[in-house]
Amino acid sequence: MSDHLVPAHGGTLIDLYASADRAAEIKAASRDWPSWDLTPRQQCDLELLMNGGFSPLTGFMGQDDYESVCDSLRLADGTIWPIPVTLDLPPEFVAANRIQDGATLALRDVEGVMLAALHVSEVWEPDREHEVKAVYGTSDPAHPGVAAVLERSHPTYVGGTVVGLSKPSHYDFKTLRLTPAELRAEFSRLGWTRVVAFQTRNPMHRAHVELTRRAAASLEANLLIHPSVGMTKPGDVDHYTRVRCYEAVLNSYPMHTAMLSLLPLAMRMAGPREAVWHAIIRKNYGCTHFIVGRDHAGPGNDAKGKPFYGPYDAQELLRSHEDELGVVMVPFQMMVYVPDRDEYEPLNEITEGTHTLDISGTELRRRLAEGREIPAWFTYPDVATELRRSYPPRHRQGFTVFFTGLSGSGKSTIANVLLTKFLEAGGRPVTILDGDMVRKHLSSELGFSKEHRDINIRRIGYVASEITKNGGIAICAPIAPYRSVRHEVRSMIEPEGGFLLVHVATPIEVCEERDRKGLYAKARAGIIKEFTGISDPYEVPSDADVMIDTATVSAEEAAQQIILHLEREGYVGQ
Ligand code: PPS
Repeated sequence: MSDHLVPAHGGTLIDLYASADRAAEIKAASRDWPSWDLTPRQQCDLELLMNGGFSPLTGFMGQDDYESVCDSLRLADGTIWPIPVTLDLPPEFVAANRIQDGATLALRDVEGVMLAALHVSEVWEPDREHEVKAVYGTSDPAHPGVAAVLERSHPTYVGGTVVGLSKPSHYDFKTLRLTPAELRAEFSRLGWTRVVAFQTRNPMHRAHVELTRRAAASLEANLLIHPSVGMTKPGDVDHYTRVRCYEAVLNSYPMHTAMLSLLPLAMRMAGPREAVWHAIIRKNYGCTHFIVGRDHAGPGNDAKGKPFYGPYDAQELLRSHEDELGVVMVPFQMMVYVPDRDEYEPLNEITEGTHTLDISGTELRRRLAEGREIPAWFTYPDVATELRRSYPPRHRQGFTVFFTGLSGSGKSTIANVLLTKFLEAGGRPVTILDGDMVRKHLSSELGFSKEHRDINIRRIGYVASEITKNGGIAICAPIAPYRSVRHEVRSMIEPEGGFLLVHVATPIEVCEERDRKGLYAKARAGIIKEFTGISDPYEVPSDADVMIDTATVSAEEAAQQIILHLEREGYVGQ
């Protein structure tokens, strides 16, 4: 492998993988070691530790490095490093397995495959509040990086060196997942000596292509499109869709000048510090230049709608370290479209008063959801097609109609009318998950305690979310008396498609009077215990999208009310 491009950070490109013989020995010795199944974030970090993407790190940080990184953006030996790379474990796991200095831990993937051995040198309880304030400049959990540390990481950190046994397995886009050594070898084979890297977590549109073309052309450098595909900001476009979009834009560059490779990085959304980190990682992958645009690795806004960082803070911080790092930053202002010239231009090069156009991420999502036009000045037809395939308009998305209400309130009757109407309209598969049916087929072992009712509703929610995700219609009709689990179900389903909560608010007197199954009589006589509305609570929803009282409305009228609501929201009727 030729290393004529740029030395790795710290001088040497790290490779933590053991030879085949050594790996076999370690595997045999590991029989009695405690095992830790890595979280997705930890596995991303481990992959970059093992392949040298995080050079000069040789393992998860110990306390000295960690504190120094938090407080001064440097490892304890003075090397610039802006983001903690730590292994967090539950204290019970640490205590039960007596993990301390000198212990060895088998690190495994989600299927139990051993990826690495960790030779533990330190175990400590970090001050995570201090960590987030130092690294992210805030402890506001609206910041996704802060939330990951404060709400989803374990309170004990374990530092130590790593010996790699197997690469984490990726079955997707294998030919695009080059390691730092492989990418360096490829640059060398192609004769690429100046390489400018472009980091992204979004699909690329004309503005991004224009920006990267300008950067490469002005530097007479080749371009590496190097998207993060490990973990990005919650709610981002999934990486499968993104990679198809990147592949679609590749032929917009002059022939033989640009390359696409995927980076298995778990982003922290740390803005300025993350920009420095990204530059270091790209240097390890053999790049000489790194593009930093507006709001690099931005976490969005805080609860008051104020951005966590200024739009060009990241450029400023990287500029102050660029000489020491040996990576040249290529700063860019936001690119905007100038219709009069049919061109994209950086905002700072445009004279005041020039008519410009832009489409925000929110506006793009709205257009996709409503099936509206995505203009050709904004993106390429192939990218628009990919996005439309992954984000169909609402009338082609799945949705769930979730009824809640007392026994005998009329949920099942309305649900069945609705089923018939949807089948009559056609176009989407429909599944009904009625309370009684679910209790027979999915939840036959459950009773009616709060705990069991919540399990029952979670199961219904899970099935409905799968149906919704796959473009179908789920009609659920349980009692679902508890508010918090109804919220859980809503938040499980909403990211997958539509969710409509229908409160069938028939008064208990009417339900009891009807008593179609004779259950109220039994409940009054104490033969059935924990009966909703009689001897068990029903928490009235405050977030119902539709409310129906079957004492005054027929089942057909109720179904019609629901269909009209779905039509207004855009889920039916196109
Ligand atoms: S829950 O709370 O959502 O899990 O309840 P669910 O699964 O929808 O209940 C389904 C049917 O169970 C019958 N049943 C009871 N309901 C309430 N409380 C008690 N203790 C009870 N015991 C049996 C009742 O017929 C429910 O059906 P519907 O269709 O609502 O009348």
